[in-house]
Amino acid sequence: MSDSSVLRDTSAAEAVDRASLRDMGTIPVDDVIQYVHKGLERFPSDLELYRRYLRQRWDVYELDFTEDRRGWATLDPATQQSFLRVATGFHHGERQVEVDLVPLLLAMPTEEAKVYLTSQLEDEARHTIFFDRFYREVVGYDAPDIQGVLDASFTHMSETFVGSFGLLAYLVDALRRDPENVSLLVQAAVNYFLWIEGVLALSVMKITLNFCKRRNVLPAFYTGFNATARDEARHVQFGLSLLHRLIHEDPRRVEDVHRTLDTLLSVSSIASQRVRYEPLGFTAPEVTQILNGQLAKKLEAIGVSLPDHIAAKMKTVQPEALAGG
Ligand SMILES: [Fe+2]
Ligand SMILES: [Fe+2]
Repeated sequence: MSDSSVLRDTSAAEAVDRASLRDMGTIPVDDVIQYVHKGLERFPSDLELYRRYLRQRWDVYELDFTEDRRGWATLDPATQQSFLRVATGFHHGERQVEVDLVPLLLAMPTEEAKVYLTSQLEDEARHTIFFDRFYREVVGYDAPDIQGVLDASFTHMSETFVGSFGLLAYLVDALRRDPENVSLLVQAAVNYFLWIEGVLALSVMKITLNFCKRRNVLPAFYTGFNATARDEARHVQFGLSLLHRLIHEDPRRVEDVHRTLDTLLSVSSIASQRVRYEPLGFTAPEVTQILNGQLAKKLEAIGVSLPDHIAAKMKTVQPEALAGG
């Protein structure tokens, strides 16, 4: 990497770090995704991440969706359909992880990690409200409560929670009954922080947010979802740091990482309906490449390599069956 690109990366990361909610409307999503990996040679401590949360927390009620509603009406039905498939994965995913974090919080090994995780729980609750507002004020759903909007968007779900989200629900319930089981904690951390947030969510955020910028539509969605991506940067950094620590304590835990990824890839093609990425400007092989790139970066950060049979599965992962996080 040349000196000038290192300098550009550093100043871009600083801009992401300090940006207000309004600034997030103009910051490129690719800079936010780069920011996830910034400084991971020295993992930030749990309390550093907690302080960053206090600084970066944003108010979901500050967004104004008026312009988004106008732009949404100009999109053709195929584009709206693809967008809703992707957005709905997040709508339900945010709500599920908000609840899944409760048993995960009890299983955290230190008080610092527990304090940090309360901030992540609040982030996920806020992300749920962000999507609730999007479906009401842009797509035009009307329901008396949050559950009513979730029920209305469920028709767009592709995964229906038998894949990675189903496995996560199972793992956190097992942790609820056995919170000191570190093997279960590693499996849940790989599933949630590394796979759902670090690989699926960041990849799909890159696709949807680049779509908004290219087509010059949905400015409030872009602002809020870009701020959500920055929140995910903290979540992923925490998860990678936790996994790094647990593996350092006992290198045999790499087997749990491998086994979980293998299972996730085996269930990743189960879907009730497929997502078409072309209307959003990406081909399926391009999405597979983004997913592979994101996974490689996360594994490098925690010092884990993939056995050939899992790497081969990853190369042929079908992104049409994956959405959200
Ligand atoms: Fe989230
Ligand atoms: Fe998250």
